[in-house]
Amino acid sequence: MITTTGLRKVYHSRGRETVALDGVDLHVREGEVFGVLGRSGAGKSTLIRCVNMLERPSSGTVQVAGQDLTALAGGSRRANAELRAARSRIGMVFQHFNLLSSRTVQDNVELPLEILGMSGAERSRKAGELLDLVGLADKARSYPAQLSGGQKQRVGIARALAGDPKVLLSDEATSALDPETTRSILRLLRDLNRQLGLTVLLITHEMDVVKAVCDSAALMKGGRVVESGTVPELLATPGSRLARELFPVGGEPSAPGRTVVDLTFHGETTTQPVISQLSRTYNIDISILGAAVETVGERQIGRMRIELPGRFEDNVVPIGFLREQGLQVDVAPVAGADGTATRDEENTK
Ligand SMILES: Nc1ncnc2c1ncn2[C@@H]1O[C@H](COP(=O)(O)OP(=O)(O)OP(=O)(O)O)[C@@H](O)[C@H]1O
Ligand SMILES: [Mg+2]
Repeated sequence: MITTTGLRKVYHSRGRETVALDGVDLHVREGEVFGVLGRSGAGKSTLIRCVNMLERPSSGTVQVAGQDLTALAGGSRRANAELRAARSRIGMVFQHFNLLSSRTVQDNVELPLEILGMSGAERSRKAGELLDLVGLADKARSYPAQLSGGQKQRVGIARALAGDPKVLLSDEATSALDPETTRSILRLLRDLNRQLGLTVLLITHEMDVVKAVCDSAALMKGGRVVESGTVPELLATPGSRLARELFPVGGEPSAPGRTVVDLTFHGETTTQPVISQLSRTYNIDISILGAAVETVGERQIGRMRIELPGRFEDNVVPIGFLREQGLQVDVAPVAGADGTATRDEENTK
């Protein structure tokens, strides 16, 4: 539904060049909720602004719903009209709502419909429908200042849906909201995704957001996508940073010189018999340091952190045994003398 190829964006300001996007290839499938994560300055907002052409990419292409938007930009008058039409079918939700304070809720939602050239009666009917969809029918005559943050964001979402978009873009839509309101807005986005078949591309700082609603996710760093895939795919990728951040299994080794192993198991495979078999076969004591079971989509995914006596070199055979049982096995980095991990452990925040 959304495909970017080799997307680059270079900003020039006061004689300085900033490469905000450095060759981004992203693919968002129709009907999915796709989350983009990354630290501040990674290029997330630039990416989303290039997807709806609020920002002209320096090079590369953006396709939305089969249409190459980059080819339309800066073209003939006809191409520009096509670009405007295409953009009206891409809804955008903002962190700070961007509502007009002098207009009522109803009028805020009617504004884009007015721009689309819809007649007065039609506008009012459509805005009413949209407010109903986001659960705010009773607030039509209120002004933004009379609403809570969550209600304001619902108006923002209703307004974004005015052009009957196929795609909804959201840049940190919930980061100004408290956790409970965040959950209710995420539920709304999820419902709209299901009911309307809306494809949602959302940017967030919060792993919980990805866990709650995303089918797929990508991690950005320095203007590039460094990881991307469906959540189950990410979980099945050894060493995936997103998987580790999404489903952390805590637990510190009980003493130095031991091997810590993270196991991931999907659906039917349960670790319980595997762990006791391992213990019996190799006559070793195994400690469970942490465990969690998560539901991703409709599937259950379990993670367990275990500790084996001895160093990695002493445990090559038992680790091989675990892999043979079809478990995904990640050996945790060894702590150095100062207690810091010797492998590059980076946070995505
Ligand atoms: N209009 C601009 N002019 C010059 N540089 C810009 C402009 N917009 C963004 N940048 C730079 O591009 C880089 C990426 O910025 P961007 O806003 O996309 O990051 P982000 O991932 O959205 O960060 P945050 O999480 O803080 O919102 C940053 O180095 C930023 O300073
Ligand atoms: Mg941003």
